[in-house]
Amino acid sequence: MSRQAAKELSAELGRSPGQLKGRRVVVAGKGGVGKTTLAASLCLAAAAGGRRVLALDQDVQQNLAYSLGYPPGEADGLRPITDRADYIEQKTGARPGGQGGLVSLNPDVSDVIERFGVEVRENLGLLVMGGVVHSSTGCLCPENALLGALVRFVETRDEDLVVMDAQAGMEPFGRSVTQGFDTALVVAEATFNSLKVAERIAALSRELGMEEVDLVLNKVYDPVEVEAAAEMLPFEGFDHVYALPYDPTVRENEPDLSAIIGGGGPYSEAVMELLGHLD
Ligand SMILES: Nc1ncnc2c1ncn2[C@@H]1O[C@H](COP(=O)(O)OP(=O)(O)OP(=O)(O)O)[C@@H](O)[C@H]1O
Ligand SMILES: [Mg+2]
Repeated sequence: MSRQAAKELSAELGRSPGQLKGRRVVVAGKGGVGKTTLAASLCLAAAAGGRRVLALDQDVQQNLAYSLGYPPGEADGLRPITDRADYIEQKTGARPGGQGGLVSLNPDVSDVIERFGVEVRENLGLLVMGGVVHSSTGCLCPENALLGALVRFVETRDEDLVVMDAQAGMEPFGRSVTQGFDTALVVAEATFNSLKVAERIAALSRELGMEEVDLVLNKVYDPVEVEAAAEMLPFEGFDHVYALPYDPTVRENEPDLSAIIGGGGPYSEAVMELLGHLD
């Protein structure tokens, strides 16, 4: 399917959005700050607690699957949704370029996962966006629009959790994507550059109508760093500020976080607490 067709398909899907229930979280921030680690950890913790979780990988590197503990051999063979646009079109009845045809699907989360994604473990599904950044524009616009449309199209229940591991930087924040979400968790290390990027992402998230925008300070060695960060950037654009400790077991277990989430270590405990605040 062409990029133009992907664009048209997303417009068609957008005509019949779902009810947007549950928590819908975008995990964003500068490169390397710990977005994938946090996104995967939240998904694993919530699924272990019995909630239905949909994990979305917007990064073209597609490494969320590994972090969720999906077997690497199988993860390499995951087909991204951008490869499946023909199938989505066929199943949904959304016709690119069609004259307002009826969208026939009324899927719940598990249904969408069954059709377009994979089940990583009980209660936990994964959709991988895929796509290739075109060097001429640097834009993944049609791919992002298709992902955003699918997210809005998914029928969710109140206790469900949708978590998107966003690409680094500002690029993920088109309106077409952010409309499917209510909360931005902006991850930053306690350094000036990282905090500056977080501040810009927070401002843009607000502009695009995100209801809640929180700062997550990650890899914190010492609580003193949080105070120092607050002096660098007064945290004004954020509803809540969380701190996650530097935890060597995160690196040691890389990429699979399923071994440490729920295991009582410092990172796991802090993520559980954060998840508790999101409810
Ligand atoms: N709290 C932590 N303690 C120790 N190491 C961490 C912590 N959080 C993340 N890391 C490590 O930092 C590195 C970067 O993490 P991660 O891949 O999650 O970042 P990212 O923001 O998704 O990066 P990218 O922008 O490349 O997608 C990884 O090696 C990860 O194991
Ligand atoms: Mg990542």
